[in-house]
Amino acid sequence: MELAFWAAIGYLFGSFPTGYLAVKIIKGEDIRTLGSGNTGGTNVGRAMGKKWAVFVTLVDMLKGGSVVMLCRAFGGGDATVALAAFAAVCGHNYPVWLGFHGGKGVATTLGTLFFVQVWASCAAVLLGGALWFLIMKATHYVSVASLAALLFVAGAFGFFGLHRAFVMLALLLAALSLWRHRGNLKRLAGGTENKVGQK
Ligand code: G3P
Repeated sequence: MELAFWAAIGYLFGSFPTGYLAVKIIKGEDIRTLGSGNTGGTNVGRAMGKKWAVFVTLVDMLKGGSVVMLCRAFGGGDATVALAAFAAVCGHNYPVWLGFHGGKGVATTLGTLFFVQVWASCAAVLLGGALWFLIMKATHYVSVASLAALLFVAGAFGFFGLHRAFVMLALLLAALSLWRHRGNLKRLAGGTENKVGQK
């Protein structure tokens, strides 16, 4: 019962359609019909600029992080926290409110993973964020930076000796995001992936 409750709360928080609402309210358009069709910060940046990209990314991180903190505050154990975090990312990627057409889960994943086992998880995610930044600067591909950061964080969780539930969670979320990026991977292979700054 407790597990089902936190899975539902995680999904509800995660499915809050930040990017969709931002573009709908400010521009009157449906983000799913613009750019890559993704509802995450990167595509919002294409539609409305860098400030909105950062805002949507931060809110998407926060909605993931708040699920984990709430679950912990109400006494959730590691397995419950891991399930709530997984549900939050599923909610972001497959929101019922948008016909299950959401984002690719990078910001929400990093937001949830940050708080799962303070301070080791915070350190791993901060290092992952630094790697994201370096790869972005070097390649200008958000998708490459995002996937590298998620895989790095999963590896760092193992290396830092985090609880097995959280190492499994980080691996599962990295795999889910790889799956959500399959279009980006095809475009990268074909040399047609968008670089930051391109429409
Ligand atoms: O976090 C999503 C990013 O990695 C790719 O977004 O819109 O280029 O598919 P997009």
